[in-house]
Amino acid sequence: MSPSLRVLITGARGQVGAELARCSWPQATELLPFGSGDLDITDREVVLARVAELAPDVIVNAAAYTAVDKAESEPDRAMAVNATGVRYLAEAADSCDALLIHISTDYVFDGTKTGWYVESDERNPLGVYGTTKSKGEDAALTAARSLVLRTAWVYGALGSNFVRTMLRLASERDELGVVEDQVGCPTAAGDIARAIVGLVAATDGGRSVEEDAHDRTRLFHLTSPTDVSWFEFANLIFKTSKGGFGGQCRPLSSDEYPTPAARPANSRLDSTFLFETFGLRLPELNEALGPVVAELESGS
Ligand SMILES: NC(=O)c1ccc[n+]([C@@H]2O[C@H](COP(=O)([O-])OP(=O)(O)OC[C@H]3O[C@@H](n4cnc5c(N)ncnc54)[C@H](OP(=O)(O)O)[C@@H]3O)[C@@H](O)[C@H]2O)c1
Repeated sequence: MSPSLRVLITGARGQVGAELARCSWPQATELLPFGSGDLDITDREVVLARVAELAPDVIVNAAAYTAVDKAESEPDRAMAVNATGVRYLAEAADSCDALLIHISTDYVFDGTKTGWYVESDERNPLGVYGTTKSKGEDAALTAARSLVLRTAWVYGALGSNFVRTMLRLASERDELGVVEDQVGCPTAAGDIARAIVGLVAATDGGRSVEEDAHDRTRLFHLTSPTDVSWFEFANLIFKTSKGGFGGQCRPLSSDEYPTPAARPANSRLDSTFLFETFGLRLPELNEALGPVVAELESGS
């Protein structure tokens, strides 16, 4: 039996890409996962040729330049991957009438809003990474059929992230300082991947995503509903881990922990629109974190 749905994944060795490649898809799905070495999204000819050859029904772009601080000194590279490459993917998706699912970030906002951010809030990125990702959203939405999913504070058992770093530091240090005045919704890469599988199913393999629909109907926030500061997140990680942390974890202000790129103080994304549209809701943090910590601690 030939597969009824072909899903091409870019950035398949990153946190979200690797979860997409290992998560459970409906049986009649053929996954086509590509790491950066096999499919460089900044190479237009390669992107167009590969997509023409494989004729996917869905392209999930999990590729990105995610080094937020390094982007400040490499703006051209960040723009090439996060915006120009996305434009090539949109062009390629249109060439074979595929749905493009693109992942974006809370860093498109400046974090000055008091409440939770909704999709229609104005973007005003603070740094190069957020600026390039904001342009990437626009690029993705040039595709006739595309969905943009904004997520935040991604962690998982595959790849580098805050949870992995905290577990390592807990075993190396007696004292830690963690930023307390930035708040967001930590989201497990595996939950993002499962939501994307759900979205593909809910849109009949992308076929029900309306062509050239208004942007507002194609942009969704996709995060866990739990909001915490980095400091609270660190303490929850220690509480969840087998080893815990016997030392002292002290709250820091962003001023005490300067970084090349400024970060939004408020990264709370409201994912209600996604729930209303597709009935998809991501797990709370205390539910999502345990399995990731367990997998990291088991070293598997
Ligand atoms: N991490 C977060 O906290 C976070 C927060 C909000 C939103 N997001 C968004 O979520 C998405 C997934 O992030 P993630 O955490 O999974 O990122 P990640 O772990 O850094 O993975 C990104 C992947 O993209 C690949 N890549 C880089 N340049 C490429 C290119 N030119 N062509 C093809 N692939 C390329 C990288 O491959 P190499 O390693 O080989 O370069 C890497 O495997 C991204 O869109 C990101 O902006 C992430």
